Parts: sequence; C-alpha cells; structure tokens
Amino acid sequence: MKTACLVTFGCQMNVHDSQRMEELLRADGFELVPEPEGADVIVLNTCSVREKAEQKLRSEVGRLKRLDALVIVTGCVAQQEGERLLDRMPYIDAVIGPDNLHELPGVVRELEGGAPSMVRATFDTEAPRFLVNEATPGGVASSAYVTTMKGCDERCSFCIVPYTRGPERYRSADDIVSEVARLVAAGAREVVLLGQTVNSYRDPAVPMPEGSDPDDSQFASLLRRIVGEAKGLLRLRYTSPHPRHLTPDLLRAHAELETLAEHVHLPVQSGSDRVLKRMIRRYTRDEYVRRADALRSARKGLVLSTDIIVGFPGETAEDFDATLSLVREVGFVGLFGFKYSPRPYTPALKLRDDVPEQEKQQRLEALFELSEAQLRAHLATLVGTRARVLVEGPSKVGAATWAGRTERNEIVHFEAAPGVGPGAFATVEVTRANKHSLEGRVESVAVPAAEKPRSAIRRVALPLVEA
Ligand code: 5AD
Repeated sequence: MKTACLVTFGCQMNVHDSQRMEELLRADGFELVPEPEGADVIVLNTCSVREKAEQKLRSEVGRLKRLDALVIVTGCVAQQEGERLLDRMPYIDAVIGPDNLHELPGVVRELEGGAPSMVRATFDTEAPRFLVNEATPGGVASSAYVTTMKGCDERCSFCIVPYTRGPERYRSADDIVSEVARLVAAGAREVVLLGQTVNSYRDPAVPMPEGSDPDDSQFASLLRRIVGEAKGLLRLRYTSPHPRHLTPDLLRAHAELETLAEHVHLPVQSGSDRVLKRMIRRYTRDEYVRRADALRSARKGLVLSTDIIVGFPGETAEDFDATLSLVREVGFVGLFGFKYSPRPYTPALKLRDDVPEQEKQQRLEALFELSEAQLRAHLATLVGTRARVLVEGPSKVGAATWAGRTERNEIVHFEAAPGVGPGAFATVEVTRANKHSLEGRVESVAVPAAEKPRSAIRRVALPLVEA
C-alpha cells in the first residue's frame, strides 16, 4: 500500500485542513504514517504567521530532500510564496494553497504520472469551498473541528493572514449545522467551530438587515441553531473570535446555552491604546475590558485566555506596562505570547521594527511569568471542586492513566475507572493543582467511552513562548 505522511505547523485551522487532507488521501488508497521517513508522499502543511514558523518549514524541507518521496507544501507559506518556493527549493514537487487543498489527490496522481512540479494557489472567492469532515460512525474523534468561515477582512497591521487566506467567506448555516449533527451522530461529543474571525459569521443564505452595524454578525444565531439541532452535542467551543464582534447577542448566547464551554480565547494583542491603534485592532483597552467583563457576567465561572504581541513597532516600556496591567485586570488564565515579527505584505512593515531583540525577549519573559503565576493561582482555587471532563486520551502524570479537559479547558489527569476512555464525559473531583494542569478522581461517568481510531497526523508544536 502507498503511504503518506502529513506534517502540520501552526493553528487549529491547519490541523483541521490536515485532517481533511488525510481523509482525502486515505480515500485514494493511501495509508497514513506518522513519520516522513519511508513515506511515498510527504505533505508539509505550513504556517507563515511569524518568521519562526517559516524557518521551521525550511529546516524540515531541508531534512526531507534526501528522502525518495514526493514533497508537497500546502497552507499559508504555499499561498504566500507560490512559484518562488519551487525556485528556491527545487526538490519540492508541488505547492498547494489553502483554497486548493481538495486538489491534493489529483496533484499526487499527476506527479506520480510524471508531471513536472506545479503550483495550485488561487482563492475561490466566487464559489467558496469548505473541507468537510466525512467521518462515518466510529471514525470520528471525540472532539471535532468544523469550519464556519474562512479568510479575514480585518486589516490588523501585523498580520499576514488576509494575504495568505484571502477575504472572508462564510459557509451556510444549514451546511454547518448538518455537519455538526452528522459528526455528533457519528460519535463526536465536542465540536470546535473554526474561523479566522469566527464571530464575524454571516449566513450567506440569510442577508443581514439593511444598514446593520458592521460589527454585528449572525454568529449567536448559528450557535443557537447548532445547540438546538445537534442533539447529543455535549460541548461547543469556537476559535478565534475578534473582540469587535463580541456583540450583545453573543453575550446572550453565552448566558442561554449550557453547551457553550466556559472558556473563550479572545486575542487582545496589547493593553495600550496607542499600540492597539497602530495595530489597527479597532477597539480600545477599555472596550475590551468591558466586553470581557460582560462575557464573565453572562456566564458564571467563564475564563479567558488571549494572544499578545510584545515589541510591536513603537511599543515603549509604558505601553508594555499597560499590557501587563491589562493581563492582571482581566485575569487571563492562559496566554500565548509572541515577539513581533515583521511579515511580508503587512501594513506594519511601514513602521520601523525598533524594539531591540533583547528587549522583546525580556518583555516576553515578564509577560509569561505573570501569566504563569495567574494560571497557578487559578488552578489552586479549583482543588476540592468538581469539574465536568471530556476524556481525550492517555496520560502518564503520576498514577494517572487518562487526561481530559474541563468545561473551562483546564487539563485534568486521573486514574482509570469503569466507562472512562476517550470520549467519556465524567464528573471529576479535583484533588491537586500542578503547574499547568489538575489531578482528580472520577466520581461518576455520564457518558461512557467509545472506541476511537488514532490519527496519524504529526503536529510540529510551535513554541508558545519563543526562545
Ligand atoms: N508577529 C508576532 N505575532 C503575530 N501574530 C500574528 N502576526 C504576528 C506577527 N507579525 C500572533 C497574534 C495572533 C496569533 C495567532 O499570532 O498574536 O493572534
């Protein structure tokens, strides 16, 4: 049997895209293997959001060129670089952008037939296509990604995504709801809705009222429909929302829908109004804080995590202090911190990247120290409480055999109990707080485990904090 290996860099959208490519290759007779060595086809699904991610691709491709395999680069670097990738790295056989991923099996067949190297990287703006999880009963993971929209109409000055993923295009709510319902019927217990600005969602089949506020969206209605129609769905998450579209209707949905997780990842990027303006984030610090507070009032116990960029052009020590004070004020329990990295085609290139590397590093470390302390303090408050845990997979922490996530997204490790396994939904008493996770004891199992196949996707973890 022919074999293929997918190596995934970057965000959840890329993980989703890799899962769908894996299904396409499997349907075409490939066996998916976890390591590139020995595979007939190697797909590198790439990220270009920061330079580090791109460098990773280069070193990975360099490592693979010795192998006798078809090497295909997909995703954001593919879209960004196109033909240039083939010029610079002639051992790459094909370059496929995010909107052309469905062409992968055909491209492989052409290459196998002796076709020269090729580039497929055109946006499907006229008739957008979405990769759908075709999983059948037993073939679906307990937590499944579902795409709602793609592309981005924001113009955050640091960000390359509008260039690599194109303009916003939305899937019809009917299609989304029926995919979720099908996945739940096939055994999924949690669904994570995906989109670059997931909460700007507008149903292409249901026009917004004339003259409606540009910040408004139909995301809350979509959430209500999913919860109402996908019976058996135990937990619903979404990522990543933009604070500008955190509408009153979305707040109401958080108050109404028990199934919505008690965690939202809400990227803020900076706590300084001056920097937010230069980043073109289209909200002020105060607006962000008020929306975060409103979210927590809507749903008791809800926790927030965020993304922050340090060392954006012109960021002074005072601006950075404002970021630290915002992290304290909002009380984030999770944080992804990044040093600003100039990206091609972005508006911020016009600004001078003037914060010295050493300063960026120090700011990142200070930020991380603060967020770690907040996470530890938060976890400590949970000892003795009960959490509803969706079991994800095996664990080796202490005597624990399984790990899962709470409704607030904390990781909990616990020992085996009858009915516990991937996909089980259990009530766990938290017995101990570690640095980044919890330990607990299973009290009862509401929904027992189901047999799940393992994915062969290898994900290259990009550092949360850059060294
Ligand atoms: N430099 C550093 N970090 C960036 N991000 C996006 N673009 C850049 C950049 N040019 C970060 C943002 C975003 C996350 C996915 O990556 O924090 O939310």
